[in-house]
This record gives sequence, C-alpha cells and structure tokens, in this order.
Amino acid sequence: MIDEISRRRTFAIISHPDAGKTTLTEKFLLYGGAVQLAGAVKARKNQRETASDWMEMERKRGISVSSTVLQFEYENKLVNLLDTPGHRDFSEDTYRVLTAVDSALMVIDAAKGIETQTRKLFEVCRRRGVPIFTFMNKCDRPMRNPLELLDELESVLGIHAYPMNWPLGDGPSFRGVFDRKGNSVHMFERTVGGMFRAPVAVHGLSDAAVRSALDDDTYHRASEELAMLDGAGASFDPSRVLAGEVTPVFFGSATNNFGVQLMLDGFLGLSPPPAPRSVGERVIPVDGPFSSFVFKIQGNMDPRHRDRISFIRVCSGKFERDMLVTQTRTGKKFKLSNSHKLFGQDREIVNEAYAGDIVGLVGYELEMGDTLSTDESIVYHEIPSFPPECFSFIHNPTPSKYKPFRRGLDQLLSEGLVQSFQVKNGLNAPLLAAVGPLQFEVVQFRLQSEYGADARLEPTPWQLLRWVDPKVSAATLSDLRLPPGTQQAEDARERPVLLFDAEWALKYFRENNPDVPLHAMPPASE
Ligand code: G4P
Repeated sequence: MIDEISRRRTFAIISHPDAGKTTLTEKFLLYGGAVQLAGAVKARKNQRETASDWMEMERKRGISVSSTVLQFEYENKLVNLLDTPGHRDFSEDTYRVLTAVDSALMVIDAAKGIETQTRKLFEVCRRRGVPIFTFMNKCDRPMRNPLELLDELESVLGIHAYPMNWPLGDGPSFRGVFDRKGNSVHMFERTVGGMFRAPVAVHGLSDAAVRSALDDDTYHRASEELAMLDGAGASFDPSRVLAGEVTPVFFGSATNNFGVQLMLDGFLGLSPPPAPRSVGERVIPVDGPFSSFVFKIQGNMDPRHRDRISFIRVCSGKFERDMLVTQTRTGKKFKLSNSHKLFGQDREIVNEAYAGDIVGLVGYELEMGDTLSTDESIVYHEIPSFPPECFSFIHNPTPSKYKPFRRGLDQLLSEGLVQSFQVKNGLNAPLLAAVGPLQFEVVQFRLQSEYGADARLEPTPWQLLRWVDPKVSAATLSDLRLPPGTQQAEDARERPVLLFDAEWALKYFRENNPDVPLHAMPPASE
C-alpha cells in the first residue's frame, strides 16, 4: 500500500484568470498520455461542450464554475490534478479544493506578474503550509524583467524564489531557457499550436549553436543575470520547498509547450506525496485505516439523473468499492458502492483508490467537511469557512412552486454554494450570504434550470456579518446598543449573528458593547 501512496502527487493549479491554467493543464495531460482528456479540457474552456444545462451559465460568462479532478500517470507517478475555478466570486469553492491538495502550482503571466487572484490563492496555500511551485508563463511574448519578477515574489508574497531555469530573451527574441541544475540550454523552436511535445535541443550555454541563436544583447544579459544568480550564493534546499519557504520558479510558454516538461519533471521530483494528517493530538499515518473527508458537493451534474456527488479526498489507507464506512459526525454507516471518477459528463467506476486520490460518491446524504472512515474516532476539521461579504434576500414569487423552490434551495445550501440566515422580526424570506455576488445568480439560475422554480433576489445594504460569542446571554442580546442599519439574525444552526452596513458601524458596536465579543467565523462551541 505504501508504494501506491508514495507515488501519488495531488495538486492544484492556482492562477489569475487568463494566466494560462487551462493551457498548462492541457499540456500536462498530453505529457501524461491522456490526449483525449487534453482535448476535452480545451473544449471545456471553449465551451464547445456543455457538461450540463446549468453550465450554460458558465458558457455565457466564459468562466469556470465547477471543479474537476484529472488523473494521469507520468513516469511512474500517479498525478491527481484538481481543477479550481478562476473567477473571484467562486473563491470559496476554490479554497475548499485547496484543502484536498498536497502542493500547488502557481501560474503567472510573465508580462503581468502577480495579480489579485494569484495573491489571494497563494495566501490560502501558505496558510495551509503546502509547498508552492511557480511557472512564469508566456515567455514567448514581451515579458517583465525576470529578476524583477523574482523580486516581486519575494516582496509581495513574502516567499523566497529560486529560479530552476532562466529565460534567454523574451517575446520575438525568446530563444529558450537555461536549466541551472542540468547546466544546459533548452532551445525554443516554435511549433504550430503546440499540439505535440515540443522538440527540444539541449546544449551548453557556450555552445556555438546557442551563441549563434542569441543576439548579442540577449546573450550578454542572460550571462550577466545568471552570474548574478550564482553569485548570490543561495543554494537550493528541497527541504525549504517542502516547508513552503522557497518556491522553485520555472520559465516557459504553455501554448508553445515550451519548458513544460522541464517544469513537470522538476515539480514531480520535488513535490511531496500525501502526508499524514492530524486529528487533535493524533497523527493518522497515510497507510493507516481508510479515512477521507468531503471537500466538495455538487448537485445535478447530470440533469438526466437528479443526483448529488460528494467528492472525498482519501487521507489514509485504501478505498475499496462496497466498503462499509462511518460518517463520523453522525455515527451513520454507509456502504460505498457508487464510487466514480468524473470528467464533465463522463463517469468511470472506481474500484479502489489510495491516500491522495479523489473519489466522487454519487447519491449519498453527506455534508461538506464530513469525515468518512473505517475508524470511527477519526474526525477531520479540514474545511474552512469564510466570512461572507454579500447579502441578498431570496423570494419565491410563485406560491404554487414552493416545494421545488425549497427543495432546490436546500440542495444548493448543502453544496455550500451560499449560506443562509434568518433575520429577526423581519421578512420571512431567507437571507443568502456569499463571498461574491455572482453566487446568487448561480443559485437563481440553478433553481430555474434544475428545479423549474423562479426566484427573485432582493439586494440588501449589509456588507459585514459577525457571529456573537456563544457566552453572551439572551438577556444581553435583547438589550444591545445597535448602530442604525444594523440587523440581528440567526444562522442555520440558530446561532446569533449581526449584520452591519459598513466598517464604521462594526466599530461603533464594539465601542458601545465592549462585553459582547464578535467573531468573523462561526464560533466552535455552541
Ligand atoms: P486560464 O485558464 O488561466 O484562464 O488561461 P488560458 O489557458 O485559457 O489562457 C488564456 C489565454 O492566454 C489564451 O488565449 C491562451 O492561448 C493564452 N496563452 C496561454 N499560454 C500562453 C503562452 O505561453 N504564450 C502565449 N502567447 N499565450 C498563451 P485566448 O486568446 O484567450 O484563447 P485561445 O486563442 O488560445 O483560444
């Protein structure tokens, strides 16, 4: 079992939209021999295929709403690549996906450097302490000075950057990269569309073929920069990569398929296999009993079968189809027979899986964050919550459609797409809360397309939500000094919350109610 586990590499690509994540994913699949999948990734991005009706919305907006898992073999490694949606409004979903990975690959557009979404996603990875690798993409186009790009990683993200290879020129004068470890130049030859593995010729920097391919300016600049990097004397220490202190940086061009193999080799060589996870004081070894947690729930992926898929990340042991496991939150037992691997519309039965793998379970009543294990004492708390920043009431305008409206809403709430609150002494309508406003439109769209239920959204002025500390008594709660515009409400577990329309109102509340502690996240004790 341990051999199977240690050959697994489970990671996600994080990037700002348009940096080249889809293109790079496609190239990885090409190298992994999964050419058909590679085509499908592109098609999915181009929305030539709509995986289901509600992905219509994805097509219209040109963004990726749902995440998928791709699995392929590469040089005896089994790679699980988790796709993450790039749009800012879906960051909560993305954050949850990042709890299921062991490392992350950050793709940066070398002409733009670090962008807002890159920074946010990086922060989440860093908080979890996962090793982060960097691919500086689009070197075939005019790019920023590579030393400046490294500086930016250090100054903006606060992580040391170690260039594994170095670009020789950029834009029209881009001629390849110098591999610092192999001490060799990989020459860039433009291929049409990059559909095949890029032909690569390897030479030394002083080789006549290299020298003649580079103009004087590029040659001198690259030699100086390389001398400077060597002179800086920082030696490469893989343990610092694993500790998340240093990011290895690779330069290349995903569309041209250039530098991709160097990066994939470097990445798979340095990235870690699944590591033991902790439950309180206890550390669960990767080859221990089967354990896993739900990090994503997706309803109605296939509108023909109104089903619900819970994705689990296997944390330890071996998964076998038909095995009996416990949902440790409730003590309920499940026989896991409907286990699938999914890509868009395609499904394949999974008979066995190991720590590091992702399995889609079809049709079980599970909740986000649930642990499934053969050892009932294992309860993971891996799924983070994020304070919502957007709030909207949702109304059912057609009384005769109340049932499908409620059923649909309950399903979408269980997927964690949005949270629901009930305001005090006010409207009966549920108040939806999300990190980004686009999520409300997804709710509206899916209620209509999957449940035939119309919904009307009603914007609200609130911008901040805080949970009241559970120690605060009911008497105190009824006697709060609230700034104008502030509203009391309850979350789905009837915990009291306050809604504020501006930062100053929160500040005012804190000053006037010093004995009422507030929390940005739901407090653990109830
Ligand atoms: P994303 O998933 O991160 O959003 O980015 P995606 O891969 O879709 O790439 C965004 C755009 O950048 C695409 O162009 C893609 O072809 C281009 N691109 C990706 N890598 C490179 C590269 O190494 N060099 C250059 N020059 N361009 C690159 P598009 O015009 O949006 O789409 P399409 O024309 O490829 O269909």
